[in-house]
Amino acid sequence: MFDRLPELPADSLLGLISMFRDDTNPKKVDLGVGVYRDEAGHTAIMKAVQKAQQMHLDQEDSKTYIGPVGVPGFVEGIKGLVLGNDSATIKDNRIAAIQTPGGCGALRVGSEFLKRLNSDFTVWVSDPTWANHIPLIRSAGLTIKTYPYFDTSTGAVNFDAMDEQLAKLGPNDVVLLHGCCHNPTGADLSFDHWKTITERALETGFIPYVDIAYQGLGDGLEEDVAGVRYLSERVPEMVIATSCSKNFGLYRERTGCLLIQTESAQTAKAIQTQIQDVARANYSMSPAYGGFLVDIVLHNEALNREWKEELDAMATRVKSLRHGLLEQIKAQGVSQNFDFITEQKGMFSYLGISKEQVTQLRNDFSIYMADSSRINVAGLNTQCLEYVAQALKKVCG
Ligand code: LMR
Repeated sequence: MFDRLPELPADSLLGLISMFRDDTNPKKVDLGVGVYRDEAGHTAIMKAVQKAQQMHLDQEDSKTYIGPVGVPGFVEGIKGLVLGNDSATIKDNRIAAIQTPGGCGALRVGSEFLKRLNSDFTVWVSDPTWANHIPLIRSAGLTIKTYPYFDTSTGAVNFDAMDEQLAKLGPNDVVLLHGCCHNPTGADLSFDHWKTITERALETGFIPYVDIAYQGLGDGLEEDVAGVRYLSERVPEMVIATSCSKNFGLYRERTGCLLIQTESAQTAKAIQTQIQDVARANYSMSPAYGGFLVDIVLHNEALNREWKEELDAMATRVKSLRHGLLEQIKAQGVSQNFDFITEQKGMFSYLGISKEQVTQLRNDFSIYMADSSRINVAGLNTQCLEYVAQALKKVCG
């Protein structure tokens, strides 16, 4: 019977990892999967995280179950990191939260929770959005639709079109928003956009569902969540999925957190049991390891300072690669306008070239990017900027 199911093609993003690994061209450039790389192309363990690993190793004396919430210090720390340590919603105990297996786990539990709440919810995602949002949300049984987001002619957000759609929504709708560093486009909402979205949520009653996977990799740890905090301070209810893959470099440790903001402490207590129940039915409870490390980094003064400095240095490096790439593109005389590259935020840019051109860059130059033409800017280094710009010149004219 098992032969009834066909073999599926490799995941479009994750498939790039093996394609790149098998490529023998010494000039190959990996701009595919969204992982931070240093100048040598290495995804190093952050120093603060390395020290936290040692401290954890020295102090862990049991491998018994951690419990349904996850590592308590981690969950408390993430609440503060995202919403601010002086957030009234936190002080009023209006947040239900659990540690999850990565940001994907948070999105999946969050979506199943929403489905339990109202099986008629439609989740609106940006056009385009991160490729895995769709299967994650759809497999929880929710309907998905898209709202206009990215303007390919400007490389920025078409907010008028987005707002026009949001204004038509109602209490049966959920709007998935990227907290910062939009994946895949790098085109972020401005603070004024967040203000308008907040007004729309209050007017229409839609539920905001924020996915924040890149806090600290845009303009800074506080700056990147200014919009999310504004929203959280004003709407009664919202869902937030966070990931520690990028800003703590804990990709393989699958470390994330789901926060559900409710109207009262009493509701939060009930919702806490609901999300724990969803997790229990899926994977029982989250792996603890990454949570222990983040807990240490967030609560040890010296490590916290070191982590923030490392994260700032990563964000600064990505920004300088954006400028370096644009300079080289201009120096090569590429006819297409790529000025938006330096305006966009975080690890990604959407080049806006065709799938055929993406394939040509891969086949002829061993430059790997998502089929959509999303590049992981953090995969560039100063040595390959000229090569990438030359290839763009050959492929785009
Ligand atoms: C990405 O967008 O490349 C990353 O978030 C990795 C993934 O799981 O897709």
